[in-house]
Amino acid sequence: MGKSKDIYYPSKKVVENATVKDYDKLYKKSVKDIEKFWAEEAKRLEWFKPWNKVLDDSEFPFYKWFVGGKTNIISNAIDRHLKTANRNKLAIIWEGEPGDIKTYSYHALAREVCEFANVLKAMGVRKGEVVTIYMPQIPEQVFAMLACAKIGAVHSVVYGGFSHEAIAERVNDAKSRVIITADGGYRRGKPTQLKEIVNKAMEIAPTLEICITVKRTGEDVYMENDRDYWYHELKSLPIAGHSCGTEEMDAEDPLFILYTSGSTGKPKGLVHTHGGYSVYTSATHRMVFDIKPEDRWWCAADPGWITGHSYLVYAPLINGATLFMYEGAPNHPYPDRWWRMIDKFGINILYTSPTAIRGLMRYGESWVTKHDLSSLRLLGSVGEPINPEAWKWYYRVVGQERCPIMDTWWQTETGGFVITPLPITPLKPGSATKPFFGHEIAVVDEDGNEVAPNEVGALVLKNPWPGMARTILNDPERYKDTYWKKFEEKRWYHAGDSAKKDEDGYFWIIGRSDDVIKVSGYRLGTAEIESAVVSHDAVTEAAAIPLPHELKGNAIHVYAILKEGVSPSKQLEKEVKDHVAQVMGPIAKPEEIVFVDSLPKTRSGKIMRRVLKARALGEDEGDLTTLDD
Ligand code: WTA
Repeated sequence: MGKSKDIYYPSKKVVENATVKDYDKLYKKSVKDIEKFWAEEAKRLEWFKPWNKVLDDSEFPFYKWFVGGKTNIISNAIDRHLKTANRNKLAIIWEGEPGDIKTYSYHALAREVCEFANVLKAMGVRKGEVVTIYMPQIPEQVFAMLACAKIGAVHSVVYGGFSHEAIAERVNDAKSRVIITADGGYRRGKPTQLKEIVNKAMEIAPTLEICITVKRTGEDVYMENDRDYWYHELKSLPIAGHSCGTEEMDAEDPLFILYTSGSTGKPKGLVHTHGGYSVYTSATHRMVFDIKPEDRWWCAADPGWITGHSYLVYAPLINGATLFMYEGAPNHPYPDRWWRMIDKFGINILYTSPTAIRGLMRYGESWVTKHDLSSLRLLGSVGEPINPEAWKWYYRVVGQERCPIMDTWWQTETGGFVITPLPITPLKPGSATKPFFGHEIAVVDEDGNEVAPNEVGALVLKNPWPGMARTILNDPERYKDTYWKKFEEKRWYHAGDSAKKDEDGYFWIIGRSDDVIKVSGYRLGTAEIESAVVSHDAVTEAAAIPLPHELKGNAIHVYAILKEGVSPSKQLEKEVKDHVAQVMGPIAKPEEIVFVDSLPKTRSGKIMRRVLKARALGEDEGDLTTLDD
């Protein structure tokens, strides 16, 4: 890669290899007729029955894609590979934290998924039913997701670091009857206690009737008759045969629900579909990462998040690549764990988050350079803006100045990449560069006027795309209000991020403009954090804000008012922090809790978080005319 000023150009080799050689030409074509563009992409996949209409926008904002088409994501992610040479190729290479390794060819994966699907059927799971999955990063987590899809059940994966209350909240919303878990997994050398957490969740989630537990750690767990089943026992019964048909689904049938934090109280269950999601994830993955059949792809995200759904599980399988998956912590037992595995398995592409990069950066270069990373061809980043220092380290030390970095901007709602470079794109560290095909994107002011270059505004997507979430489960009104109301007349999607566009048309994402906090790339809502804080006996009111943090990007800082007669102390601060971690899960643990006598509010009683933030950072507090007192 050549370099001039702060622009990084791809090498001749990267350009020669590239799937897309002329961005501008294909981009123009794609936005001139998005239906034509997406129909061509959809034709690369297998359908039981083709669609009669590519896009139905008659019920805006409830778009429908590939209307009348019949498919199942599994036909493309597994079944079609069994008819080609891919059958004997590795689909999954997995390494456990203790160092155990498992590999599955597409053939072997198909058998595992059929067995799991047959077990689910035997448990009475039906098409359209929501199955909750709460698991460590082990192959069975992927099998469970794929098995649900295969029989037309809808999976709802809850991140394995969440608390029992978070599980119950999601289960209760989706009215899930079956939950799949494991006794635990390994993290930093220790087994986690997932089944114990599920047991607690089951006490407060009355719809749950059945729990299927995969044995991973062999730790003792509590189980109840007629409620709890070991997966390995079910799997050895005659019901769990090696073959199982793939359910014919409508293109618009739901594939999964994934809960994510928004500006208000409870998490939203975003709904993604079989048809459009298959097309969108596979197309973005193939073009952005130049996926070749012989590639070994590593997306280091947990399947509990959208990145894991789209780019650990579904897209690489649809594209027939070999995916690599790792169970544990990046620095266990030593800070070179990741680099050792890239070397060992000959990984070609690494896709991870700025937080992970910053975390590994602090151990120094020699942990990286002592391994042979010459197999790497491309790198990727996702989850939050990547600061130029981390970008440059990733580029120079990990990618050895050979591997372009694909900084992909997208959201749980978008299903896949939206603003992203291609390998041929000249890169500017910290910019996610340009719109993916089919997208017209702008940075606008409150009234929807485009702002001048390099000025901050709201990010809007002007066209619909096949991977978009179709609605929020049980709350279509909230879907409308959150994403479409603001620019309803123009029919623009309001992303909730603030951004800038420079004079070259490159986008620079600044961060969330709503009450969502990104901590280590994880998405949390201020309202959820505040309600967790207030659920502690000593607290009456609280406000949570993000403040910059060297490793995490942002950290949670809380301002809390104590109840009459309770006095602040270091001990109490610790107690409240632990309480939040207990209620929401360890990722939500606040960095700091400051006990205060009052909070800045508007006259109508809304907490002015931006004032708290400005004060904490010693910045100008801005317009205070609405501040009460
Ligand atoms: C942020 C994760 C800057 C953004 C896929 C977005 C990013 C939110 C990037 C969605 C990026 C994601 N550069 N910011 N490359 N990627 N974001 O739903 O604020 O967990 O709105 O999806 O992450 O978070 P979510």
